[in-house]
Amino acid sequence: MTTGKTAPRRLSIFGSTGSIGRNTLNVVEHLGGRDNFEISVLTGNGNVELLARQAKASGARLAVTASDRHYESLKSALSGSGIAVASGKSGLMEAADREADWVMAAIVGTAGLAPTLAAARRGADIALANKECLVSAGDLFLKSIREGGGKLLPVDSEHNAIFQVLEESQRHAVERVILTASGGPFRTASLKEMADVTVETARAHPNWSMGLKISIDSASMFNKALEMIEARHLFGLAPEQIEVILHPQSIIHSMVGYTDGSVLAQLGAPDMRTAIGYALSFPRRPNLPIERLDFARLARLDFEAPDEVRFPALRLARLAMTRGGVQGAVLNGAKEVALQAFIEGRLSFLAMADITERVMDDLAHLPPAAGMDDVFSADSQARQRASELMKLDLVG
Ligand SMILES: NC(=O)c1ccc[n+]([C@@H]2O[C@H](COP(=O)([O-])OP(=O)(O)OC[C@H]3O[C@@H](n4cnc5c(N)ncnc54)[C@H](OP(=O)(O)O)[C@@H]3O)[C@@H](O)[C@H]2O)c1
Repeated sequence: MTTGKTAPRRLSIFGSTGSIGRNTLNVVEHLGGRDNFEISVLTGNGNVELLARQAKASGARLAVTASDRHYESLKSALSGSGIAVASGKSGLMEAADREADWVMAAIVGTAGLAPTLAAARRGADIALANKECLVSAGDLFLKSIREGGGKLLPVDSEHNAIFQVLEESQRHAVERVILTASGGPFRTASLKEMADVTVETARAHPNWSMGLKISIDSASMFNKALEMIEARHLFGLAPEQIEVILHPQSIIHSMVGYTDGSVLAQLGAPDMRTAIGYALSFPRRPNLPIERLDFARLARLDFEAPDEVRFPALRLARLAMTRGGVQGAVLNGAKEVALQAFIEGRLSFLAMADITERVMDDLAHLPPAAGMDDVFSADSQARQRASELMKLDLVG
């Protein structure tokens, strides 16, 4: 005899302590929590106290800190709870090996690449927030998804918007996608003003509440650059089919233009829970307590062309797409080193793009990746070259 009740879906959240991870747990609660879902694994890095609290509250089977230094404190915070604990790179791979139907990939940066690829190969549906998987590994990551047989569900708000309005049966009629960008805190700043910006001003995004690195990447528009490359892989587009338009209100999350002149857009309040909920409930739409748009109060939606002199990251994305091969991994690796140097006060805001471009030029000879080792090698060569350039004080 059956009870008629379906088994809870097993979820893992990589990067549960971050902005996307916390929002994911919030969405899971709104959609029934333990009645509908079983949390297989949660992972974090340094924020052990929050990770332990999340693991206990959600009844996770395994909690992983990416940092071996924090293993003992996580173990002691979870002692007696019955929740297994692991750490480091091997801990993240153990997380990827655990059974899960759906994995939120929300570890920031290149650290998210290996565990997400492994989870994809194992066949889980991947809700993709981490951009580096597609920017650095592109076709190889898509191959892992195909081989695993799971779905790839974009969570980045722009790609989730395109995913929502791209009619699968009309893919051949897609002429272009238009990624919207708020323009960040320096949309109207002069080059002179941008030369002296600090981490505090750069992290203050006007519309979205996000982690530190993605907030600064939004201010420099490197975030949009990564999104352009991500869109190319996700939707199989040529570089010239990807446009960026500044839209300071962040209400239209992106658009798809078709061959008949129609443009379909997805609109909503700037709240990542819409994209996360869509990725979790796909192909259904969940019921979520997101602020509803009041068009009378909104009154207007503005658009302007981006200025690629003040925001060279957009030009670098096009360069990486045109050159192809491992240039995405190189752009990302160099940018991550430059971003860290900016956060630590060792590099100016504008020099992040100078360093990245120099490294891309210096490593333009690298051959296309035959496997993931080539991607990791391109990433580490880019990091090394970026560090050398900064030591030589050639830029910035
Ligand atoms: N936030 C957004 O609205 C948004 C939108 C679209 C896409 N994304 C993308 O989603 C990803 C996560 O963004 P976020 O804003 O949630 O970032 P975040 O708030 O900085 O959180 C990052 C997560 O990754 C963990 N982490 C940090 N360093 C790690 C390492 N070396 N190894 C393993 N885990 C590590 C953090 O752990 P601790 O907290 O314990 O240190 C945290 O759980 C990024 O790739 C971002 O580009 C974010």
